[in-house]
Amino acid sequence: MVTRLDWTSHHARVLKGSVRVPGDKSVSHRALMLGALAEGTSRIRGFLEGEDTRATAAVLQLLGVRIDAPADGERVVHGVGLHGLRGTTQQLDCGNAGTGMRLLAGLLAGQEFDSTLIGDESLSKRPMRRVTDPLARMGATIETQDGLPPLHVRGGQALHGIAYTLPVASAQVKSALLLAGLYAQGETEVIEPHPTRDYTERMLAAFGWPIDFAPGRARLSGGHTLRATDVDVPADFSSAAFFLVAGSIVPGSELRLPSVGLNPRRTGLLQALRLMGADIRVENERESGGEPVGDLVVRHAPLHGIELPEALVPDMIDEFPALFVAATAAKGQTVVRGAAELRVKESDRLAAMATGLRALGAVVDETPDGATIHGGPLHGGTIESHGDHRIAMSFAAAGLIASGPVRINDCANVATSFPGFFELGNSCGFELKTA
Ligand code: S3P
Repeated sequence: MVTRLDWTSHHARVLKGSVRVPGDKSVSHRALMLGALAEGTSRIRGFLEGEDTRATAAVLQLLGVRIDAPADGERVVHGVGLHGLRGTTQQLDCGNAGTGMRLLAGLLAGQEFDSTLIGDESLSKRPMRRVTDPLARMGATIETQDGLPPLHVRGGQALHGIAYTLPVASAQVKSALLLAGLYAQGETEVIEPHPTRDYTERMLAAFGWPIDFAPGRARLSGGHTLRATDVDVPADFSSAAFFLVAGSIVPGSELRLPSVGLNPRRTGLLQALRLMGADIRVENERESGGEPVGDLVVRHAPLHGIELPEALVPDMIDEFPALFVAATAAKGQTVVRGAAELRVKESDRLAAMATGLRALGAVVDETPDGATIHGGPLHGGTIESHGDHRIAMSFAAAGLIASGPVRINDCANVATSFPGFFELGNSCGFELKTA
């Protein structure tokens, strides 16, 4: 039982300073999983100490993998090899993490033992057929509750590779199929309607698995070996997003965000904000652990509304709550289309943002696959996070420019992706208080 936590976010004078946001969630999950299946010991640095990634570590530990935590943000994974996991009768609790559950579904489909994956209230409402249907085509047997968790994954199934064109762009589904493909006979190929984050592909290659991939497609065969390797996790662009928006909308602000992951499949918000007139620079661009990283410097700038190019949607799929806040601070209207996926995230993010922003006086017209957000002043009010970390943090940013306090109900879930957000925000000028 998570204790309830409510915040109020107050008008801020100015934001200044250097803000070191935590490690990337997507990379942290994958590093644990591949480290577990590898031969040898992998050290992960910059690991996200969030509830989502800790849940994945706990699941792997229940499956017999030794994972040490020598320091904060560090994990040493003692790999058991591709066929070294041990079954357990305990339920495997993925917490709030869609990435954890969907990737583990693929990984567990290839084991000799049965497993049961469960999640919290929000995860228990999220669609799983998008992974279980294609996995079934590979020969897996996974029972759902009418398409929802818990997932009962039957072991001892002979998997075979398939060529699969994803109906919806999803890195989670792609990754689940690739992980099942490690155990499948023959070739597994995934084709995407629009390229999504390619961390699984890059990391498989870094762990020595032969894989052929390019934006929009990936192909591998079963029967090879993963060799342990060290992983440096960059700071999470999705966590940096709240500060990019906050720094852009609070007059006089200047924030520096060091060593943020800049994988092009993640940085759609950077492009969107720049189209709106934002002043965000990338400094000290370099490569770390096979990923582009850089320091982001954001300065306040007057924003204007845009018609968001639909091609950017998959590259900023987690950043829409933050974009909506920027759009209320912009002159004119911002139009979002082609983003129906937002309705099946940790909450229905289109509804949660539209309702919350309206409670603060904004005009937002919601559509089935997007919204039109009209720029204008915000006043104080009370909003519900719907137990969604990104909704809570976005309204923390909205409170910075609202004329009265913004009460955000139910912020405990911020710890799933961004432990320390409250303190880090306040260290650079946010005025967050527990309510
Ligand atoms: C993720 C993929 C995205 C994203 C999620 C993390 C991943 O989900 O929203 O936060 O790590 O693969 P979808 O694959 O459902 O788009």
